[in-house]
Amino acid sequence: MGTSKKNIKIEYNEIESIDELPEIDKHLLDSALRATEKAYAPYSAFKVGAAVLLEGGLIVSGSNQENAAYPSGLCAERVAVFAASSEYPDRIIEKIAVVSKKNNGQLRSVTPCGSCRQVLFEYEHRQQQAIGVLMIGENETLLEFKNIDSLLPFGFNKDQMA
Ligand code: THU
Repeated sequence: MGTSKKNIKIEYNEIESIDELPEIDKHLLDSALRATEKAYAPYSAFKVGAAVLLEGGLIVSGSNQENAAYPSGLCAERVAVFAASSEYPDRIIEKIAVVSKKNNGQLRSVTPCGSCRQVLFEYEHRQQQAIGVLMIGENETLLEFKNIDSLLPFGFNKDQMA
């Protein structure tokens, strides 16, 4: 009986400059940046790019794709991860980078929405290996999370359905 107060600690790295990243992460971020140019975002004008790093070094990118029937559109993260998983279903997903860019070329803060976290969460559990996330924080800093679990505490997973 009784109520216990619990806490969750979320660890992440705040990285001040892209220059501090290892080469592969710079490359991943660059792919995500290039993907923003391919976004189809006539309704929000918010262009997002994502790039997924697969084991072996292959990168699959995606951008947000909107639709006049608004809920039919899809975020860049899910476009990228669904493309990667459908094309390479047996490859481990090591990392995903998510970026947005202002019209003047400045990086804009963007963090994955709840639905994208849920989708990434399931792939992480399926492959039983962490998926890292690199995203843009405030003032063009970079935020690095080591796994999806830390972005979605108490996420719903299919084992609960057993
Ligand atoms: N969007 C993404 O693609 N990823 C995110 O992490 C946040 C939001 C898209 C969805 C929609 O096309 C637009 O940005 C505005 O919400």
